[in-house]
Amino acid sequence: MPRKIAVGNWKMNGTAADLDQIKALAPTAASAGVATLICPPASLISRAAGLGVDIGAQDCHAGVSGAHTGDLSAEMLADAGATHIITGHSERRQDHNETDADIAAKTQAVWRAGLTAIICIGESEAQYRAGETLDVIAAQLAGSVPTGAGPQNTIVAYEPIWAIGTGLTPTVDEIAKVHAFIRAQLAKALPEGAEVSLLYGGSVKASNAAEIFAVADVDGALVGGASLKAADFGPIVTALATAS
Ligand code: PGA
Repeated sequence: MPRKIAVGNWKMNGTAADLDQIKALAPTAASAGVATLICPPASLISRAAGLGVDIGAQDCHAGVSGAHTGDLSAEMLADAGATHIITGHSERRQDHNETDADIAAKTQAVWRAGLTAIICIGESEAQYRAGETLDVIAAQLAGSVPTGAGPQNTIVAYEPIWAIGTGLTPTVDEIAKVHAFIRAQLAKALPEGAEVSLLYGGSVKASNAAEIFAVADVDGALVGGASLKAADFGPIVTALATAS
């Protein structure tokens, strides 16, 4: 069985005062008994690590070190206390022109540092409307998931771009169809591909989490806005723990 995991992505939000939200989440994460990860901005990683919730990063450079002003390597993020790094979030793909090849290289950097990559894929609204979702997903999987991926080093997050921060979500049948497709593609491409955890992301909140977690092949969620406050994210963690 793929491992269940609830991941919060704070994006470019949070300063020291917000560490209290991680402290407040810790008892819920511990009693739920399900893996819980917060990816704060890199500026908070070292202070967030050790507060009782696993901590991840939102991006990394593909290299180990060198003349790359403003960038952080996976090794540096591991040193700061990260256990996971998100690669290929659609905001990175859009705002920083990251390609599938960039994301594959960053994912290999995450593994090189001994961490787990959370590789994000998902179609745009235009691609969704044109019925191209599965083709887009297949191409992103082929291009951004390196051979060598398995449950020990990789999580895949399906995030339709049009659902991120919009309050819109696909229907549960649409989520089921895409997740079954991703599961089948990974199982075909990788020796242990069927065991890789698959997260859904895009406007997950306490009020829709239980219904999304009941979908076959959904092993957790990647949550943006609703991960910023423990009062919002805690119930999502609990819903994942109780989902069958
Ligand atoms: P959202 O973001 O939960 O705010 O829609 C999800 C994400 O971008 O990971």
